[in-house]
Amino acid sequence: MCPMTIPMTEPRPILLDCDPGVDDALALLWLAAHPERFDLQAVTVVAGNAGLENTAANARRILDFLRCDGVPVYAGASRPILKTQGKTSLVHGGDGLGDIGWPPPSRAPEKMHGAQAIINTAHACAGRLHLVATGPLTNLALAVLLAPELPGLIDGVTLMGGAAFGPGNTTPAAEFNFHVDPEAAHILFESGIPIVMAGLDVTRRAVLPPPIMAQLSGPQAPLKGICGKLLAGYDDPCLHDPTAVAYLLDPALFKGVAAHVAIPCTAGDTAGQSVAAISARHLAGRSPNATVLTDLDPVKFATHFLSSMEKLEARLNGN
Ligand code: RIB
Ligand code: CA
Repeated sequence: MCPMTIPMTEPRPILLDCDPGVDDALALLWLAAHPERFDLQAVTVVAGNAGLENTAANARRILDFLRCDGVPVYAGASRPILKTQGKTSLVHGGDGLGDIGWPPPSRAPEKMHGAQAIINTAHACAGRLHLVATGPLTNLALAVLLAPELPGLIDGVTLMGGAAFGPGNTTPAAEFNFHVDPEAAHILFESGIPIVMAGLDVTRRAVLPPPIMAQLSGPQAPLKGICGKLLAGYDDPCLHDPTAVAYLLDPALFKGVAAHVAIPCTAGDTAGQSVAAISARHLAGRSPNATVLTDLDPVKFATHFLSSMEKLEARLNGN
């Protein structure tokens, strides 16, 4: 199954929904490194790696670093749709951004709720908007429930989440983003919006080898070594969220398969599992609702990330 083709008309309008989060931050840096490919319309934020106040502040701190004053940040859901509270993760440091000491955000978030911002941005982009989602899917699900017309207005969603053919990272069955809000994942996967799912099946291969890590951290490191500093405060070797951006930049880095992904919303360990049906027998008459990425070239991924960070530095330095 060829992964979803990338439309020729670029830069394509992008909205990032995220829960920064160190790997979310790296995904945002990667998007910002390629203005010739991505026209970042807005960032919407959800509770996940940290509480909503932290994740919303972190998104603005990252955009301050990128000098992207024109990109609005909208705070969205502070909790999952049904569960009374989400789970925060200790993987991203005390402030959710690796405790690297970035200054507080220079601006307040917009007043509009993130879910409404997704709807408004989709209308403004007249069907060309592509969503990149790297946190729990609560904002996207709320947008789908609020605006039944949304599936006809969204080009597609490329998301980090799930674990189709291997164990989860939060429970034996479920990956963090889907486990925090399984109902939201279910709503999105049943919405009809085209989905590319970068799950743990590929993100576990998204590990930067020591030579690349050294180039991101050493005295000659791009961006004054900020990627190395962020990664030093991140207790996970995998660059989960950047894989969603890598797919949009170069789908050939990946292999993928069409699948129908079902998301159990039961209580306990299976909540948020991503049950992928591929064969006719397993599909049992259901149509695929996602392209599930199954393999990644880790060397090309790592070298592409490094070269993009060098490109970003040149752009920020006005070269
Ligand atoms: O399971 C990894 C995912 O959970 C990533 O998006 C990480 O940022 C956390 O949100
Ligand atoms: Ca995330």
